[in-house]
Amino acid sequence: MSPRRVALVTGASSGIGLRAAVALARDGVRVFAGMRDVSRAADLIDAATQAKVTVEPVAIDVRDEAAVREVVARLERDAGRLDVVVNSAGVLWSGFAEDTSADELREQFETNFFGVANVCRAVIPGMRSRWYGRILNVSSLGGRVASPMFSGYDASKFAVEGYSEALRHELRAAGVFVSLIEPGMVPTRMVRHAWRRSDASADPQGPNAAATARLERLFQVGAGWSHQTTSADAVARVIARAASARTPRLRYVVGLDAYATLWMSRAAPQAWELWNAWLARPETR
Ligand SMILES: NC(=O)c1ccc[n+]([C@@H]2O[C@H](COP(=O)([O-])OP(=O)(O)OC[C@H]3O[C@@H](n4cnc5c(N)ncnc54)[C@H](OP(=O)(O)O)[C@@H]3O)[C@@H](O)[C@H]2O)c1
Repeated sequence: MSPRRVALVTGASSGIGLRAAVALARDGVRVFAGMRDVSRAADLIDAATQAKVTVEPVAIDVRDEAAVREVVARLERDAGRLDVVVNSAGVLWSGFAEDTSADELREQFETNFFGVANVCRAVIPGMRSRWYGRILNVSSLGGRVASPMFSGYDASKFAVEGYSEALRHELRAAGVFVSLIEPGMVPTRMVRHAWRRSDASADPQGPNAAATARLERLFQVGAGWSHQTTSADAVARVIARAASARTPRLRYVVGLDAYATLWMSRAAPQAWELWNAWLARPETR
């Protein structure tokens, strides 16, 4: 009998990471559920209990490279292996590009891009040595098609896309598959209330105040509607499927809205551009 597979899921205190941890455990995988503060594991433990599975919370802040290395080494020592890694930790910043400071942009990248890279670097040597691994990076449709007001977030996800694609080429011959999960809008904490505005975009006298308000309203409508399109559970099921696939694909688009956006932006690029320009238009004086 082959040994039970072992997974690390980052950002498992809520949303997609939480549901992915439970879905993998349901598939018989031993799951270490990473989160910054393990005292916030109550929702995860409840969901696992309801699903009649166990998951093991571990403290991990993906921005801290040394801590990530230390945690991964400890898990590999304790469990003997890490076969599957789901990089779900992420943050969402909004604000027009000119209203986003370098520090705000860096903060966005620290979690969404460097966090993913920190975890990948830490787990690759072990996966290489065992000739087996599955790395699933939760990107976004925003990593394929960018939107006004989300230049920082989309840039961080485009970076994850390029990084993951190159990594896939580097690791495939070693039996390690890297995949990208690309959901559309999912009704999680992030889109409901945890997204962060750049400071300057909150200025009502700023040049983009009207356009920002318009785009925020549209975003909130989208967040409200997202209940109808894609659930965190649906994304988690795709993650679990990719984790157990013999040959996982490079990309998994999830959600009707994601497919529709991808299709429209590719099939009618000029119309798509005009639509976005209209949404981001300045208020006429
Ligand atoms: N919701 C969407 O519409 C959507 C769409 C496409 C892609 N995504 C992507 O899906 C992933 C999960 O997001 P979600 O929608 O599930 O949102 P969420 O419920 O807000 O989950 C984000 C998770 O990331 C964790 N996190 C944030 N910074 C961290 C750090 N430095 N180290 C470790 N963990 C950290 C949060 O944990 P704390 O408790 O520590 O804050 C939380 O568990 C993100 O990468 C996001 O970009 C989301």
